[in-house]
Amino acid sequence: MALLVWQDDLNTGVEVIDHQHMRIVEMLNHLHVTQKSMERVAVGEVIDELIDYTLSHFAFEEELMEEAGYPFCAAHKRVHEVFIKRVSEYRMRFESGEDITDDLRNMLSRWLFNHIRGDDKAYAEHVKRHLNKFAREHEEGGWLGRTLKRLFR
Ligand SMILES: [Fe+2]
Repeated sequence: MALLVWQDDLNTGVEVIDHQHMRIVEMLNHLHVTQKSMERVAVGEVIDELIDYTLSHFAFEEELMEEAGYPFCAAHKRVHEVFIKRVSEYRMRFESGEDITDDLRNMLSRWLFNHIRGDDKAYAEHVKRHLNKFAREHEEGGWLGRTLKRLFR
């Protein structure tokens, strides 16, 4: 499998989420490069880093969806949970000495791209609307701006 390339249709339009997704893709490519070095300890570190980052990305995404009042948040969380179980099995197999690097990269990249194009894009409009509303309420003319001006003039 060659290095992964970011494609425009993977953008959800929620900037912070797109950056996190791009970072995961970078890490998958980093794993590919590290794997060639044949150093098991280094590969293990990259796998740990990749899995940990992916899990914190899920947590962040879930919080954002919840905050925005996305109605299908619970279902989306379940999809993450099932995937987390799958990923921890890979980590266990690696720890018991199996070479799972290719499998993990294939599985994770395929899963991630499908997930972004389907489930993540499904919440994007809702979350974007929420973020824009939040930004409007907090810009200069908003309540906070007015209050700050009043208090600190
Ligand atoms: Fe997601």
